[in-house]
Amino acid sequence: MTDAVTFMGQQSWLVEVAGARILVDPVLDTSFGHSSALRFEIHPARRIDMDLMPRVDAVIVTNEHLDHFHLPSLRRLPADVPVVMHRLMPEVCVDQLRELGREVHLLGHAEPMKIGGAEVLFLQGDKDVPVWESRVTSLYVRPAGAPGGVFIQSDTAVSHRTPADCTPEVFIATHNAQVPPAGELGAFDNLLPVPAADAPEVTGLELLSALLNDTAELLPSVRLFALSGGGYTQLPRKQGEFLWNDFGALERVANALSIDKKVLGLAPGESAAYGRAPVDRERVPWITPVAPSLPVESSDRQARADVDLSAPLPPLFERGVDEADMRLILEELAGLAPLLMLSPLGRNLVNTHTYLGRRVGPSRFAVHLRGTPRGDEVHALDLNSASFRVQPGGLRDALFSIPSGIDVNCADLLAVLRGEIHIWELAVSRLRQWYVGDRMESPVAFLYGALSEQVRPDLAARLYRALRD
Ligand SMILES: [Fe+2]
Repeated sequence: MTDAVTFMGQQSWLVEVAGARILVDPVLDTSFGHSSALRFEIHPARRIDMDLMPRVDAVIVTNEHLDHFHLPSLRRLPADVPVVMHRLMPEVCVDQLRELGREVHLLGHAEPMKIGGAEVLFLQGDKDVPVWESRVTSLYVRPAGAPGGVFIQSDTAVSHRTPADCTPEVFIATHNAQVPPAGELGAFDNLLPVPAADAPEVTGLELLSALLNDTAELLPSVRLFALSGGGYTQLPRKQGEFLWNDFGALERVANALSIDKKVLGLAPGESAAYGRAPVDRERVPWITPVAPSLPVESSDRQARADVDLSAPLPPLFERGVDEADMRLILEELAGLAPLLMLSPLGRNLVNTHTYLGRRVGPSRFAVHLRGTPRGDEVHALDLNSASFRVQPGGLRDALFSIPSGIDVNCADLLAVLRGEIHIWELAVSRLRQWYVGDRMESPVAFLYGALSEQVRPDLAARLYRALRD
């Protein structure tokens, strides 16, 4: 068996090193997601044939996010394949696997584990990442006791303190830019037509530089980069594919610009035997390209049309919202209020004295709830009482008088608060926000932290139970 990496779509890989076959963050279905109301289809679409897939020696999960920790896929693997995770993996995830009867190994930072002729170790990322990515680890797979092998970045930043014996030959770089096509808002985009303070216009070259050059400095042993991530579309469709996620095009541009390092933009189902020069590429028989469930529009423009505030925001979940549902929403908002005030967003809001040229009052964060039993309502957080109160006016009034907020359907928010979908699923599909300042200090960033699997294992447990039943 030659050392090789096989791209399975999004961030799933099969890594073959020194005779060991290791599956990383496998999503084996055509799509992932916690609800049938919203699916994330792997793009370019493909089907994985489990009967033809080679037998693997171990499966590794680098973090708990839904495109990495995919319970339906982990269940489909033979029962005796051990699962290896980092010791900081949320307990609620470890419990799920143990309840399924799986053998789980938890490793500390840089603690090696032998798998056949290879050894695997997790390396915690840089501390300068958002809270919901703070426990994501990178993975290093190398021939036991020897240099080389494969480094998988996963959704974290490579640490400046990577151990000296981390000398991979191949670096699997995560492309998480997720730039939406023209006229669409991404999860972190702003309803206010102002550029985000920390997000200059992304160009393909800037993206490639961030993906490849920054890493090349930290891990000079790398001679081959492989691109990963950004590979899904939503069902129902919100938008086409992300900009800059045509891996074939990125590969051509990157290699034309590079002298000594090479870049691979594999399609799902392509495998690269990296020990040979030139790298030997082939299609594996167990991954087949298929047509997407709905046509995907591609886009080569990056320009944001102004958002029409009066346009409908159709809910994902078609269901009535009654008074009991409202009580749950208001209880959760009451619980979020003090957390928000302690967050970077809250600190900024305390120090926001003027907004759009006018002085602001104590209401500095708004939740525009669509479809309450009384119609649409604005609930605003008053910093003096740390509580939410109904405020007269609609979305437009809130947007132009309160310096941050979200716009959401009650039915969809309820799905998050009942553990039917994850906050990430709502934020990328049907939640809109406005804010002044950095996107990592925006309402969505706050909600990612406050409703994450780490902070709300109760919600995560319900999500996982639904995937298992
Ligand atoms: Fe991811």
